[in-house]
Amino acid sequence: MKEWNIVPLYKLQELPYANVLCYPRFELKESEKRICELERLGVTAIEFTGGKNVSTVRVLGKGCVGIVVLAHTETGKAALKIRRTDADRKGMQHEAEMLKKANMLGVGPRLLRFTQNFLLMDFIEGKLLPEWLVSLKSENNPIKTRVSSVLYELLGQCWRMDKAGLDHGELSHAPKHIIVDAQDIPHILDFETASINRKPSNLTSLCQYLFISSSIAKENIETLGRINRNILIKALRVYKQSFSKENFEKILDICGLRREA
Ligand SMILES: Nc1ncnc2c1ncn2[C@@H]1O[C@H](COP(=O)(O)OP(=O)(O)O)[C@@H](O)[C@H]1O
Ligand SMILES: [Mg+2]
Repeated sequence: MKEWNIVPLYKLQELPYANVLCYPRFELKESEKRICELERLGVTAIEFTGGKNVSTVRVLGKGCVGIVVLAHTETGKAALKIRRTDADRKGMQHEAEMLKKANMLGVGPRLLRFTQNFLLMDFIEGKLLPEWLVSLKSENNPIKTRVSSVLYELLGQCWRMDKAGLDHGELSHAPKHIIVDAQDIPHILDFETASINRKPSNLTSLCQYLFISSSIAKENIETLGRINRNILIKALRVYKQSFSKENFEKILDICGLRREA
């Protein structure tokens, strides 16, 4: 492992790291405040690694609200979401509350702690769903079984959120919000735009993405066998009226994902 990219807390005030803590607009006072928050969270160092770049360093991810990095804490590694200085949110409290609700349904990375500018959660090591699907093609494993099991679990997570009244809000942009880990378990990320005050459309949005309108829809359909999109769209309309077990199982059937209990 490259040790040089593990940067202890006291060094985070230096460039280029300070630019990541306070992205995109660096301010000395803000950066000092943020380092105090990291101390309170029990973060001891940040490991600059991952598939995205900010400034000249590597990070796990970058979105409209946050930069996500790998943090070392007193109790092990964790994912740290850093609020961007230009985010249209004053703090991370809303996301923390939504993630906590998701966690109670067995969804999302486990929330560890949060402060105004940071959210600390379980680090999910794996591949974003589209990359995971592509990576399967280069293996000789039975693809259909693995895809079925991941999508079955994902649809189940969406159904649980629908029933509980928690709407994720961005599952039609699923490519950046689902990571599949090494055990083939899918994890839904980013509860920043989640809400308990609107009608949930988790399963409908995800099915839209997986089977109807994205670039991976055609491939999923080919892998899983024939899925009749018109029948699926009609069944989703019925499901939207009532998130009943019966309506949910109908969707699983149509997608070829039904498992006998
Ligand atoms: N818990 C996590 N473990 C590993 N990677 C993560 C985790 N949370 C987020 N990421 C990565 O960071 C990216 C951005 O995170 P996200 O929560 O979507 O931020 P934003 O709210 O700014 O869009 C994700 O697409 C993912 O690649
Ligand atoms: Mg996001």
